Amino acid sequence: MDTNKLINKAMEARLNSYSPYSNFQVGAALLTSDSRIYTGCNIESASFSPTNCAERTAVFKAVSEGVRDFSAIAVTGGPRGQFLEYCFPCGVCLQVLSEFTEPDIFLVITAKSPDDFQTFSLSRLLPYGFRLPGRRV
Ligand code: THU
Repeated sequence: MDTNKLINKAMEARLNSYSPYSNFQVGAALLTSDSRIYTGCNIESASFSPTNCAERTAVFKAVSEGVRDFSAIAVTGGPRGQFLEYCFPCGVCLQVLSEFTEPDIFLVITAKSPDDFQTFSLSRLLPYGFRLPGRRV
């Protein structure tokens, strides 16, 4: 896996963040099992609750195109105009990621820059995620 490239794609996607209410800009890059990359940014709404996180934007783009096999996601985020901080996916995004992945294997990379990042398994960030019995992706 080219972690550097994935982080760069997330940083690039962050530039499209539509976040006039929080001014917190997030970009994500989702790596498919066959090495394609789907990117996403956060998209906010004046009525707040329809806001979509960058991670879910990337997942929904991929799934809506029939792609459901993923191996990693890079996330980059922070207040507009400031240095990036390690930005972790929220609980809702972790749950959505767990829908389409094997949480012990799928990797979440949170990055401040292409050479300053941390990597976690999804199961480490969401150790007891909800699953219905008999689910099959
Ligand atoms: N946000 C994301 O896009 N991803 C995360 O992992 C956490 C939060 C967005 C949602 C909202 O637009 C802004 O960051 C502040 O919460």
